[in-house]
This record gives sequence, C-alpha cells and structure tokens, in this order.
Amino acid sequence: MKNIAVLTSGGDAPGMNAAVRAVVRKAIFEEMEVAGVFNGYQGLIEGKIELLQLGSVGDIIQRGGTMLRSARSPEFMTEEGRLKAMRHVKEHGIEGLVVIGGDGSFRGARELMRLGLPCVCVPATIDNDINGTDFTIGFDSALNTVIDAIDKIRDTASSHERTFIIEVMGRDAGDLALWAGLAGGAETILIPEERYDLADIVDRLQSGTGRGKKHSIIIVAEGVMSGNELADLLKKEANIETRVSVLGHIQRGGSPTARDRVIASQFGARAVELLKDGRGGVAIGMQNQMVVDYDLNEVFAEEDHALDMELYKLSKQLSI
Ligand code: F6P
Repeated sequence: MKNIAVLTSGGDAPGMNAAVRAVVRKAIFEEMEVAGVFNGYQGLIEGKIELLQLGSVGDIIQRGGTMLRSARSPEFMTEEGRLKAMRHVKEHGIEGLVVIGGDGSFRGARELMRLGLPCVCVPATIDNDINGTDFTIGFDSALNTVIDAIDKIRDTASSHERTFIIEVMGRDAGDLALWAGLAGGAETILIPEERYDLADIVDRLQSGTGRGKKHSIIIVAEGVMSGNELADLLKKEANIETRVSVLGHIQRGGSPTARDRVIASQFGARAVELLKDGRGGVAIGMQNQMVVDYDLNEVFAEEDHALDMELYKLSKQLSI
C-alpha cells in the first residue's frame, strides 16, 4: 500500500496522539502518503480527511486527548452511514486504515473490512479491556491519575479519620480499579469480575477499625455500582458514614506516561508495517512484553477480556 489513513475513535485515551504521530512518521519514513480522518468514523462519513505531513504531528507526543479528535458515531452503526464512509475512502484513494481506539472502534473496523477496506486496529482505551493484549494505550496514564487521586484523598481521609469511597471508570472491566487499588493500598476493591459481599466489606472495615486503623479507602469500579450507591448501602445496612469521590473524566485526560508513549509509538509503527505489506483484519497488542499482531476476530472470540485474578487475590492478602 502507498496511501493510508488514520483515525481515533471512541473514548479518548492519553497516548492516542503519540500513536497518531508514530503512524504518520513511520508512513512517511516508508515513503507512503498518510491522511488523517478527523472526528473518528463520523469524520469518515462526512469526508473530513486531510493529508498529514511530518510537521502535522510535531509537538503532540506529550499531549493528552487526540489531535484528530474523536466521536461515538450512531450514523456509522447503520449500513447507509458505512457506505457513505466508503465513498470518501474511494474518493481519496485510501488503501488501508489504522483505527486507534477501543473494542467499539474495532467493531467498526470489522465492518469496513467487510466492505473491502483493509484495517489495522491499535488498542487505546483507559479501560484496558481488549482481548489479546495485556495493555492498551492510555491505561497506564489513567492508572497514574487514579493513584495520584488516591494519595491525595488518603491525606484528608487520615486527617479526619474517615472512610472514603473512590469511584473509577473502566466500563465493564475492573482493571483500572484493581491496579489502582493495589498500587494505592486500598483496603477494599470492588470489581465487576468478582461478586461483592456487603457483609464482607463491613467486616473488613470494622475489623480494621478494631485493630486501630484510622481511615479506609474503598475503590469501586463503575461497572459494579456508583460510589454514591455504595455509600447509601453502607449507611443503610451498617450505619457506616463515608465520603464519596467520583473521579470521572479526569481519568481520560493529562499527559501520557512514558510507558504509554512508548507502546503507542511501537503499536503505531507496527500498524504501518502491516499495511505496507498489504495486511488488514489485524489487531496489535502487547503480550509478555512483546509487540504482537493477531486476527481481529480474536478480539471478539470471547465475551469478556480476562482480568488478572492473581493480582486480585494478592490485593486482598495485602490489604488485611
Ligand atoms: O471507554 C472509556 C470510558 O471512559 C469508560 O471508562 C467510561 O465508562 C466511558 O468511556 C464514558 O464515556 P463517555 O465519555 O462517552 O461518557
């Protein structure tokens, strides 16, 4: 292929810019033309496509968000929308597309493959919930944002001898909650992958207090319930008073960590190599510290991605 395009889609994630930069620079290095599609699949439908140069991606590696902007496009969910998108693909002579995003974006790529456009998918989501890769771009940055918040909340929790509930994102996955809870020393972590037991939560809080603990941190993944719902339950069932902090979209912003910048650079460059060799229908990922590529269908082969349950067990052992 000589003429490719790149887009970012779905919820943005820190490191998306570093991935876009890698795609553009690697493509130019390989003497290919590379266009940016603005506003994700919606931009493809509307023909928001511009040729990018080396300088177009200067000074973005350290920035959060995505210079190509992102969107969740209901129109792209329809066959009519996708056919409109394909008309622009043909008009611009685009032979292959790099899709940077989460599993919803990968589904979109699968539809475009069906209509004849080779796509390579680069995983970027703070949720870390894509089958076939140990890590997604943005997860490490979001994790560090959450840990920073936990550390700050711990200061006030210990001053006032309070129990805090911190609600974190992750959609249906518990990765962000688990890793942040372990790294932040939380007393209790609630994740969608493991059924919670209110009596056990209460017991852990009370036995901690009995042993002289002055404050506690509970991390709840949004896929389990909201922080406020948990606070209501603890108040109603055990008369435990808490404060709730919902971290929200702050988790999606900020400068990407070094680790996210590095994997974004590796993933973006590999995507270009694959398209150069005429390969589509592939997802890129990281397995045991190695950059790998695998059939896009494997992403959808299993319902849910596997959380590291050993890490969960460890977090329980260390937070007694
Ligand atoms: O998928 C990333 C994510 O931030 C999830 O963690 C969260 O549930 C969702 O997106 C929020 O989406 P939106 O920004 O559209 O409200």
